[in-house]
Amino acid sequence: MCGIVGYIGPQDATPIILNGLKRLEYRGYDSAGLAVLQGGEIAVRRDAGKLARLAALVEAEPVSGHVGIGHTRWATHGEPNARNAHPHMGMTGDVVLVHNGIVENFLELREELMAEGAEFKSETDTEVIVHLIERYLASEGELEEAVRRALRHLRGAHGVVVMSRREPDKIVAARIGNAGGVVIGLGEDETYIASDLPAILEHTRQMVFLESHQMAVVRREGVEVTTLEGALVDYEVQNVPWDPVSAEKGEYRHFMHKEIHEQVRSLTDTIAGRADFEAGRIRLPDLKLTPEFARRINKIFITACGTAAYAGMVGKVLIERIARVSVEVEIGSEFRYSDPIVGPDDVVLAISQSGETADTLAAMEEGRKKGATLWAIVNAIGSQAMRIADGFISMQTGPEIGVASTKAYTAPLVDLYMLAILLGDLRGELDEAARRSLVADLRLVPDLAGQCLDREAQVEAVAQALVDTRNALYLGRGINMPTAYEGALKLKEISYIHAEGYPAGEMKHGPIALIDSEMPVVVIAPRDPWYEKMFSQIEQAKARGGRVIAIATDGDELIPPVADHVLWVPQTPWMLSPVTTVIPLQMLAYHIAALRGLDVDQPRNLAKSVTVE
Ligand code: AGP
Repeated sequence: MCGIVGYIGPQDATPIILNGLKRLEYRGYDSAGLAVLQGGEIAVRRDAGKLARLAALVEAEPVSGHVGIGHTRWATHGEPNARNAHPHMGMTGDVVLVHNGIVENFLELREELMAEGAEFKSETDTEVIVHLIERYLASEGELEEAVRRALRHLRGAHGVVVMSRREPDKIVAARIGNAGGVVIGLGEDETYIASDLPAILEHTRQMVFLESHQMAVVRREGVEVTTLEGALVDYEVQNVPWDPVSAEKGEYRHFMHKEIHEQVRSLTDTIAGRADFEAGRIRLPDLKLTPEFARRINKIFITACGTAAYAGMVGKVLIERIARVSVEVEIGSEFRYSDPIVGPDDVVLAISQSGETADTLAAMEEGRKKGATLWAIVNAIGSQAMRIADGFISMQTGPEIGVASTKAYTAPLVDLYMLAILLGDLRGELDEAARRSLVADLRLVPDLAGQCLDREAQVEAVAQALVDTRNALYLGRGINMPTAYEGALKLKEISYIHAEGYPAGEMKHGPIALIDSEMPVVVIAPRDPWYEKMFSQIEQAKARGGRVIAIATDGDELIPPVADHVLWVPQTPWMLSPVTTVIPLQMLAYHIAALRGLDVDQPRNLAKSVTVE
């Protein structure tokens, strides 16, 4: 989950690294550091805490030079303090390194190295890597060869970036497995390295994405990519169309708030070029789906984590209802160990904003092993999930920086809706009228989302009423059952309030005992096929003294007399209703967390992309 930045070129590396780390702070932020080659020596500055402390340290003790690397850390081994902060040096002072991932065999390696006389200065697993490199530098001479040999000893997934004062014209980067990306940005007579695009987007859009088991030797004039065994790789330079501004907060206080309000744009963008409103058809060319294979599909296994998994649950309803294909939704961390019954006529469909979530990538690998076709619905361009899939649908939302996913939840809902139509069309499950009607409804989505966003004041009022609550229940049914899970997750992860999403029909089997006057109950009750059941749910909660916050469709006259608060959403075709019902819940979580003065974009214990298991 850590953030990495590197630079080599004619400019001063220090400000470039600090600014880059600032844009990656959402990835992991309990300590930070940088190392710059200055006057032939490696100068390191690092500290616990947020990046602002590192910036202050650099201000107090300036460093500058033309080659440098930096890191923001999300601690896995060793508490978050200056000693454990990256970058890490060995004993000779020749080499310095930053690392993303976990050295699963670091204890045995540390003992082996200590037996050879290595002295460790930190409790991190990372430090064993720099000692291994020093061990081989003596014999191998060239940094990249020493790194190559050192990495062979490591178990686990890794991203490493290394530099040496003895070879000041290069930085070496390498990637093993799915510990987060390593991307090389090609500039004019300068080259950048990052774990994530937003760190270097303002400098270049010409990117080279390292695959697993690849190494890059980065110089001012460019990059040479090889396999870890040393074979040259003919790499592709991708032009990334994301503009740097979109990775900025603009006039918003938090990225999350900005990204909630970007949903008219992101929903427009995820539909653009895919819905042919004239022909009433859907086109998803990157999926590489043939009519033959569409008709052959036996089952689709949707696998994802967190918010993305809840989008997958909506996708199950859509694909089964529209395309009549059996769908199973399995969270990545379970699917990967479940020895699933998957075969060549099955699809494993991963959903991932970052495209780097270790559990989701491992689930994809499991599907690959079983012979399934791999699809991915992904936001991050060039990410591992996008690269290993046989076909993909890009969410096209632009960078999502806030740890709490918002636009990268509603975009895949629409992507799954379009996928369902395409599958239904190719499998002959949709007559022309039905197909045209479903496609036409897509035209409404951005405006319906905009109407929800325009009603933020109603949400702020409810946030005031709930700001001190210690618990909350979210209830939904049918296509909006996942909305309950997602609404509860939003509140949990940024306000630290214990919130539970629950299938409404299950309440009478036990959890209804939780309801009393202290328990706010958010009931998602739009005009959808489950409305009547949800209305009775409201009455059941009220009968037990619960405080009911209802999500209701404009014009509803039954709910207002019963509910304590109503959050109104516009009339929405029921298969697209999860797009509109979730937006007030995103805003509710945001405003409660903001009222509580919490760190909305960087909630405690969390990171934007969970690249460790
Ligand atoms: C959602 O708000 C959380 N940030 C988290 O559940 C996230 O959705 C999950 O870690 C999956 O991330 P991904 O979409 O990048 O794979």
